[in-house]
Amino acid sequence: MNRKAIIVGASSGIGLEVAKLLLADGWHLGVAARREELLLELKEKAPERVEVMTLDVTMPDAGERLHSLIERLGGMDLYFHASGIGKQNRTLEEGIELRTMETNAVGFTRMIGEAYRYFAERGAGHIAAITSIAGTKGLGPAPAYSATKALQATYLQSLEQQALQRGLKIRFTDIRPGFVDTALLNDSFPYPMLMRPESVARDIVRSIYRHRHVRVIDWRYRILTFFWRLIPRWIWRRMKL
Ligand SMILES: NC(=O)c1ccc[n+]([C@@H]2O[C@H](COP(=O)([O-])OP(=O)(O)OC[C@H]3O[C@@H](n4cnc5c(N)ncnc54)[C@H](OP(=O)(O)O)[C@@H]3O)[C@@H](O)[C@H]2O)c1
Repeated sequence: MNRKAIIVGASSGIGLEVAKLLLADGWHLGVAARREELLLELKEKAPERVEVMTLDVTMPDAGERLHSLIERLGGMDLYFHASGIGKQNRTLEEGIELRTMETNAVGFTRMIGEAYRYFAERGAGHIAAITSIAGTKGLGPAPAYSATKALQATYLQSLEQQALQRGLKIRFTDIRPGFVDTALLNDSFPYPMLMRPESVARDIVRSIYRHRHVRVIDWRYRILTFFWRLIPRWIWRRMKL
């Protein structure tokens, strides 16, 4: 049977790499983001197996557009949320904070909610989303990014519990990468332990297939976040990140 996935945020970076891997694995894909030309380029790889939809997760019509895409694809087994923005904001510029909240908090809630209600009605499905290790603790250099990533992780955990209590067969995979070399880190900051989006995507696909609940990528970040959690608040606030 044809497996069908929708990827929101498939036009670049990690979402694009995951899309390529799923295509190579025979999936039928619905791909969405704002930049149509990049999505059409992706469609060229397997025109008969890729449906394209432009949508902006911050706009109220994004849910409707997701549903049109599901219809065109003929259903959805996996919803993968890769869309997101993030910027360092050491001077707390209002525009950056609010745009980040609109995309990563409101847009995320809108899209995950649509997918959840679709799977609840259908009886089964899998929701996977890229959150981040940035949600582990409050990070001074990127307050809105860090806070929205914590929100995303908590939201997924809440839905996972709700689905189980309601007897819904919806699986969840919360993917938390460390720094990945994509357009999102498009500034001159020397990010340590930078990973390639291709290898992160391979780990993500494996984690989805293995039905992992939470996956921190990679092992170095698993160690780092383990220790971050142990640091008391009075020390954490003095740490220079
Ligand atoms: N790079 C890292 O170090 C890193 C680490 C941990 C987690 N992450 C997370 O990984 C996810 C993917 O980021 P990336 O690193 O692959 O960066 P990216 O290359 O900039 O990809 C971001 C994707 O999100 C889409 N997007 C952004 N705003 C959107 C909107 N309003 N509506 C619909 N789509 C939107 C973009 O498409 P359009 O611009 O075409 O709309 C693009 O496809 C993000 O959630 C990010 O927070 C990244």
